[in-house]
Amino acid sequence: MSHISIAIDGPAAAGKSTIAKRVAKKLEYLYIDTGAMYRAVTLYVLEHGDDIIQNISNHVHITFGINDEVYLNDKDVSAEIRSPEVTNNVSRVAAIGEVRTYLVDMQREISTTSSVVMDGRDIGTTVLPDAEVKIFMQASPKVRAERRLLEETARGNDIDLETLTAEIIRRDEIDSTREISPLVQADDAVLLDTSHLSIEEAEAKIIQLVKDKLEVQ
Ligand code: DC
Repeated sequence: MSHISIAIDGPAAAGKSTIAKRVAKKLEYLYIDTGAMYRAVTLYVLEHGDDIIQNISNHVHITFGINDEVYLNDKDVSAEIRSPEVTNNVSRVAAIGEVRTYLVDMQREISTTSSVVMDGRDIGTTVLPDAEVKIFMQASPKVRAERRLLEETARGNDIDLETLTAEIIRRDEIDSTREISPLVQADDAVLLDTSHLSIEEAEAKIIQLVKDKLEVQ
């Protein structure tokens, strides 16, 4: 049986991971959060220095747990990779060619073993250009900052809306203008603006797109 791939790309805090996770659960596909992989590498680089990047495959081993926990060299780093320090450095690390090559290879490999819902910035354009369904998820910067504020507050991070808005805009700018596989909507991706959609509505739209696509195959 061939595997199905669903690519969900978009800027920071557009709702990708929340919705992708639910879609994967419903379809019984594997959910892969590629942003978490870049965050795990960033955590390692912050702890060990940029020099390890040339030899990244010898240093960094990333795996996922059954509840989407992220393991870096067998240690659960799910909480640590969401720290402000990692968030503020991840775009810089994700722009480095060696890092991208290493993670993209790993992401493609995973997609050969199982049907996947993969979210990130370059899934539809670079990682899985033949994905059966591609979504480009958008939301206004204001909505995205408000959503992130709720998440950060729940995590106990004390941060204000203005700082978060600036951080999101800065990160989008770096991610969209980098040389290697920048954040851009694939020609054949469906644009989904979640600014005025509930989580359930966004999920239902994607499930419908998948059904439509698989029916005509
Ligand atoms: O989705 P996120 O906010 O956890 O992603 C963290 C960073 O990782 C994001 O600012 C850019 C980078 N990233 C990337 O370059 N390519 C991906 N496929 C996923 C994330």
